[in-house]
Order: sequence, then structure tokens, then C-alpha cells
Amino acid sequence: MKTGILINARLGSKRLPDKHLQSIGKGTALAHLIIRLVPLAANRKDIRIFIATGSEQENAPLQAIAQAAGIELFYGDADNIPLRHHQLVQRFGLAAIVSVDGDDLLSSPTACQAIIDALENGAPLARTEGLPFGMNAWGYTAKTLAEAINSLSTNTMLETGWGRIFSQFTPTVITYSISNSDAVRATLDYPEDLEFFRAVFTKCPTDILKDDRALTAWIYAEGIYKLSSSRHEEYWNNFTQEKAKEDRQLNENYSKRLHAVIPGGAHTYSRGDDQYPANAPAILERGKGAYSWSPAGEKFLDYGMALRAVNIGYAEPCINEAAIRQIEKGNNLTRASTIELEAAELLVSLIDSVDMVKFTKNGSTATSAAVKLARAYTGRDLIARCAQHPFFSYDDWFIGSTAIPKGIPRNIIEQTKSFNYNDIVSLEKLIAEYPDQFACVIMEPVSLECPISPGNPQAQGFGDLKAKYPKGSTNFLKEVEVLCKKHGIIFILDEMITGFRWGLKGAQEFFGLDPDISTFGKAMANGFSVAGVAGKRDIMKLGSTDTPGTERVFLLSTTHGAEMSGLGAFVETVKFMQREKVIEHFWDYGQKIVALMETCALEAGIGNHFKMIGTAIIPAFVFLDESNTASLPLRTLFLQELIKAGILMPWISFTYRHGEAELALTRQGVLKAMEVVKKALTDGVDRYLAGPAVKPVFRRFN
Ligand SMILES: Cc1ncc(COP(=O)(O)O)c(C=O)c1O
Repeated sequence: MKTGILINARLGSKRLPDKHLQSIGKGTALAHLIIRLVPLAANRKDIRIFIATGSEQENAPLQAIAQAAGIELFYGDADNIPLRHHQLVQRFGLAAIVSVDGDDLLSSPTACQAIIDALENGAPLARTEGLPFGMNAWGYTAKTLAEAINSLSTNTMLETGWGRIFSQFTPTVITYSISNSDAVRATLDYPEDLEFFRAVFTKCPTDILKDDRALTAWIYAEGIYKLSSSRHEEYWNNFTQEKAKEDRQLNENYSKRLHAVIPGGAHTYSRGDDQYPANAPAILERGKGAYSWSPAGEKFLDYGMALRAVNIGYAEPCINEAAIRQIEKGNNLTRASTIELEAAELLVSLIDSVDMVKFTKNGSTATSAAVKLARAYTGRDLIARCAQHPFFSYDDWFIGSTAIPKGIPRNIIEQTKSFNYNDIVSLEKLIAEYPDQFACVIMEPVSLECPISPGNPQAQGFGDLKAKYPKGSTNFLKEVEVLCKKHGIIFILDEMITGFRWGLKGAQEFFGLDPDISTFGKAMANGFSVAGVAGKRDIMKLGSTDTPGTERVFLLSTTHGAEMSGLGAFVETVKFMQREKVIEHFWDYGQKIVALMETCALEAGIGNHFKMIGTAIIPAFVFLDESNTASLPLRTLFLQELIKAGILMPWISFTYRHGEAELALTRQGVLKAMEVVKKALTDGVDRYLAGPAVKPVFRRFN
């Protein structure tokens, strides 16, 4: 494999001017590094060493060093280092690169060789860890570099580091375990570092210089490690403070820009700043599998998963490809498309209660369409909504029944009434109070509570739910269905969250329900914008046009409602779920994470202040303060500490791509975060919170 060892060097350093030309013993700093690396190319015609520098004139003195060492000095792009490497790769026809920082004069040839071996064995990207700072090596193939460059803008490449540039690739990591490697900082950054390297290169025996373990031990034993700039507390303090300040500034700038042009700073209130702790990334750039990344390259294990819209994983290749196939077919045609028919037939065949479906882009339009159908079918106006279910639609019929009714006419507000989950009497009373006036009952099958049933009288969401709801048994939901039938009320089951999670046929199948209308959305197309109102033919056909003479109902009609990319993604998501054991995985992961959170709470000693609620499939968590009341400040602190551990958990939504590695990561972060919560319970939460506590979405005032 034609490989280049690229020593990145420039002469413009402000902290240590002309650092590569500084003398160390008999040679220059850079010459010492080259001498260390030369043996790697000695018996290999396919390995060449280069100095890669920027095109500025100030770098010309490097030529003498290159010439003396018999290696090539390559002038590439002045600022854009990935591009500079790409230019070099193209010029010399390289297949792989080992990238060495010219400041790292003790770069390990053994580590470089390990990288070459890994790349030759097919790794797209490889790095070592465990050696002292400045001795590890890393590299990547030309293909990896080309793909990364093609996917990024020049600005992004200029603004961010290598980690971000290659973040879509999984590196092969070669780990060394060397005592005292933490104590050694071997990089030429400040004048003190020069003293460190002078001591190493002039005093260290040659055989020790060649052996990373012996070298580290020697530097430590001789006390030479104390010479480098890392020993200066001020340096590290400044470094970390400066970095934190920069990150905060970047985040604040994004937040300001978002709020300047978008009311609420995001297109969903639950994505807003007031839903997250102060250290949360204000903005994200991309996601892959179970992770998302901020523009600064911070990686987060994601439990928000696009407000539960992603259930397989971000950017799942086969689903993206299915969407792209439809994009290439035009994405939105003049008449109904073949994928529109395929998607509709698929949904109808999948959900037993459904004869017809109309697709749309958002859940809200689907639920509003369901309500309209119910009103048209029954000729009645009133809507009964379940009070414990937090969201059905952004439309007035629903928002008018929340704490934020401003802007909604009184008569519309008065048309939506509430009943309580697991309280059939509350619904019966409502129906009795407004006889023959309710068009529909709308509810989710399950949110934080399960339906009361003979097998589950406490409405518990954990344990063996299948055993608690045997086929054919009754439960609260079934009672609602029967009550609706009795009073000629349309039973709308909103499966926006439960659909494609509880089971492929939804939670309705699990609980033996036969709703008149169902609504789906969120996870049905793994993040693509697809939702649908679906139901019994005699109701749905009100929106039809093929029965001459009947009065029409203007059901959903949107330009983008049947956008082909989304529907292609929906069909592929279903196929994926049928092919892989996705639903089984959800139940398994859910049970594991519930147990994990509860165990961590016990281990951290806050068992009395923490509670898992909901169900294994859609679990939720609550922190309780000293008075046993749900505490948003404690919750915020937990979220804040999790973010420090690289975990974004506004709620718990997991995907097929959340696996054992993610559980292990979660355990580490959760335990640490809970330990801080424990301290806050004694010392007061304000001492630990870096910003305001999160607020409920539905509150009247900002
Ligand atoms: C149960 C339920 N129904 C409907 C909706 C509305 O969906 P959308 O945000 O796609 O409009 C949501 C959104 O959170 C929901 O949770």
C-alpha cells in the first residue's frame, strides 16, 4: 500500500517562533523527528516520508532540513490541512497517510508501524492510545480522506479539527498500556518544551530512545518530564479555561442566531433552550446510529432521537438509500406515485383496524384530520381528550385545552373537554354532561401509565406486560372503546409514539383494540417526515371523491403530503423491522436501561429520590426532592452532568442501534451524574447547576 508519512510543520508559531529550526544538540528539532521516522521507510519502497507545509513563503527554510534528510518538502494549501493532505495524496498517488505532528519530536515509530499495518488490513482510520501525549500515532486511507473532504464545506474544514472531519468513520484503536504515560507531555509548544526535548535527545541512551516503554520510564525516572510546559499549572489552567470559554461562546452565538430568526429558537418547543441545561449543545449538526454531533465535533450518545422520530438509528444506510431512490425518481410527481400506493397498501395490510390511510408530513395534521373526520361523521362538535396525554396537535382544538390558549377563540377552547386516564367514570360523566355532543375521544394507548386491567390493577408499566394483558382480556382502553361505541362516539387512538415501537401492528394489537381511527407518525419512517390518519372505510371514505352526489369533506390535502422520499423510507423501515428483530430489541433494551438507571440510583445512594416510570418500551424518569415532589432542578442537574459525560438524555428514546456498548457508556455517565445529584441533595442544587432549571413546555408565561 503506497503510504506517506506526513510530518506537518509550519514556521509561523507565535508561542515559539521558528520552533522546527531550533537547535537540539547537533541538529534542528525537526531533524530529530525525521531521524526517528526514517527507519520506517528504510526497507519499504512503498513508504515515503514527507514534510507537508503551507504555501507561505515563511516556510521556505524547511527546505534545507528536507534536503539534508533526503525527503520531499511539499507545499500545499496554506490553511486547510485536510486539503493540503489531499493535494499531496493526489500528487504522489498515495493510498494511505500516517499523519505526524511536526511538534511531536518523540512520535513513536512503533505506533506509526502499527497504524500502517491497520490501514493495510483495511481500517479506514486508525489511531493509537496509551502512549504519552505526543507519541501516539494516527492515520487514514486516501479513500477516507476523499470521502470526508467531499462531505464537508471548506469553512467546516477550516473551523474544526480532525476528530470532527473524520467523525463519520470508526477508527481502529490500538491501545498501549504504559506506566506513567500520563505524566509525560512530549510536544514542542512552549520554550520550556525545548528544554524537555534537549534533555531527552542529549541525555537518553540510543537503545532507550527506540523503545517507547523504556523511554517513558526513563523520562519519568530522570524527572525530565517536569521540564515540559505541562508541569506549568498555569498552562493547563489557561488551556482548559480558554477552551471552555471558546466552547461557551460558540454555543451562545448559535443560540443567539437561532433566537434571532426562529421564534423559540427551534421548530419544536421541546427542542428549545428552556428544555435543556445550560451546558447542552445549542445546536447539532448531524447524527449517525445512536449518536449525534455538535458543529464543534462534540459527540453525544443520543436518547432524544429526534423527538422519537428515529427508531432504527440516524442515517441508517438502507433506509437513506430507499429515500434517495425515490428522490432520483422525482420525489414528488404530478399525480399519485407508485410508492404512495405501495406505502398505503403496506400500512393497510399491517394494521388490522385500518382500511384506508391518508399520509401527511406531521402528526398534528394527522390528528387534526382525525378530529375533522369524527366531526363530519357524527355531525357533533365536542372533543374528549385524555388529560394525562401531553400532546396531540399544534392545532387550536388541542392547544386551546392547554396552559397556552392565547390566540385561540373561546368557542374553540370550549369545544375540547378533558377526561382522566384509567378513570372510566370521568369519561362517563363527561358524556352524560354533554349527551350526544361528543364527536370523538382522542387518546394515546399508553403514556406514563398502562391501562388498568384485571391482570394489572396498579397500571404498572414494567415486568411481563404480555402476561398482564393476555389476548382477549379487558382493560381500561377496551372500556373506552366500548363506551364510544355505545354513544356513537369515534374512538381515535393516537399511536404517534407507540406505533412502530410497541409492535409492528402498534399498541392497539397489544391491548386487543379496534379503534375507529388511528394516527401514526414519528418513528414510522426513521426520521423522515411521514405521518398518517388511518381508519375504518366508512369514516375514511368521507374524504373520497368516488361516490357521486355525496357531500364532501375536505380531508387532508397537502402538496408535500406524499413526498416520495419519506414514503420510500417508510416502506424500507417496515421491511427493516420485519427483517431484523427490532421490536424484540426495543423491549430488551428498555428493560435493561430501566434496570440500569434504578441500579445506578441505588449505588449512588439516591434510591429514594429517583423513580423510573412509564413502560420498558418508552420509559421515563423522575427526580424527587426532599419533600418527595418531582424536581426539575434535580432533573436539570442530572441532564447537565450527563452532557459532561457525552450523553444527551432529555427523555429516553432508544433505537435499534443502541446496543451493549451504549448501555455501558450510559451506565458510566448515569452513575457519575447521580453521584453529583446526591451531593446536590445535601448541599443544595444551586451550587451545582450551571444555569436555570428546565421548564415545562406547557406553561403560560416565559
Ligand atoms: C402523541 C402525539 N400525537 C401527535 C403529535 C404531533 O406530532 P407532530 O409533532 O409530528 O406534529 C405528537 C408529537 O409529539 C405526539 O407525541
